[in-house]
Amino acid sequence: MKCRKCGGKAVINMPQHHLGLCKDDYLAWLPEQTGRFIEKYAMFGREEKVLVAVSGGKDSLALWEILHRLGYQADGLYLCLGIDGGIAYSSESQRLTEQFAAARGLQLHIVNVEAETGRTIPELARLSLRGRSKPCSVCGLVKRHEMNRVARDLGYNVLATGHNLDDEAAVLFGNTLTWSREYLLRQGPVLPAIPGLARKVKPLCRFYEREMAAYALLRGIEYIYEECPHALGSTSTYYKEVLNRMEHERPGVKLRFYLAFLDAHKSGLFARQEDVQPSLNPCPGCGQPTSAPGLCSFCRLKEKVRSSGEAGL
Ligand code: AMP
Ligand code: FES
Ligand code: ZN
Repeated sequence: MKCRKCGGKAVINMPQHHLGLCKDDYLAWLPEQTGRFIEKYAMFGREEKVLVAVSGGKDSLALWEILHRLGYQADGLYLCLGIDGGIAYSSESQRLTEQFAAARGLQLHIVNVEAETGRTIPELARLSLRGRSKPCSVCGLVKRHEMNRVARDLGYNVLATGHNLDDEAAVLFGNTLTWSREYLLRQGPVLPAIPGLARKVKPLCRFYEREMAAYALLRGIEYIYEECPHALGSTSTYYKEVLNRMEHERPGVKLRFYLAFLDAHKSGLFARQEDVQPSLNPCPGCGQPTSAPGLCSFCRLKEKVRSSGEAGL
């Protein structure tokens, strides 16, 4: 296959765009497209301060690299989750993130969940779920809370994550299976700011996972190959597998599914936001908005940690 731009040897084929590109043209094309999506969805401007949540994986490191390359003011935030079973997942991803930032002279904030809450993610999950399910839900709750807290405390205008099309299509698939209107309404490339919460954006939401992996490899970004050990057997992994099977038979189906959803959303297929959004109040513990009548779920989790400590558990 030949590169559409220069006629050289293509290193990647993107059937959904009928496009093959050589290494140099691909490395130019992907950041250029990202810049277009940032503008198309009005994610942020050059005068705004962006906080990129970096996990040490290919997507978020590539996102940080691209934003830096495009000339945006983007600092990083790494959350150390304390997931260090057999493969030392957290320590290795932290090492790679620190190495990435140091090599480019970028500012990286590091937050340790254990220092903030008194427990690592696996310990918090044991405490609150008593082994009934995987730690992913507690982990998601803590990550969202901490990303918001740091963005707000340090005065960032916008929080960017490395979610790619495979991630977004899998979440959309799950929300569609249950017609979760509230979640469907909140899904999209941009979640506007509300009092107490920074705007959230996903500049990579239109790129396939394999496109991001190719970009990171061709650009020479060293990232953690291993998935979080708890992702194995999770529902979202299962949805990704189902969608991959469909994609194999019908190239482009994931992208069409996601883009058609965004169109439907824009044309008002779902209820207006104010019809379904629960009313939010500032949490008396941390000030972040919550639909709970008292403390938010993060502060309730911290209460549990405190009382378990007092009870000597
Ligand atoms: P995941 O929820 O693991 O699929 O990750 C989705 C996105 O969340 C990543 O692309 C990152 O932007 C962000 N993220 C995940 N884990 C971390 C972490 N430990 N520290 C900072 N950001 C993270
Ligand atoms: Fe949080 Fe896997 S990254 S449980
Ligand atoms: Zn709170």
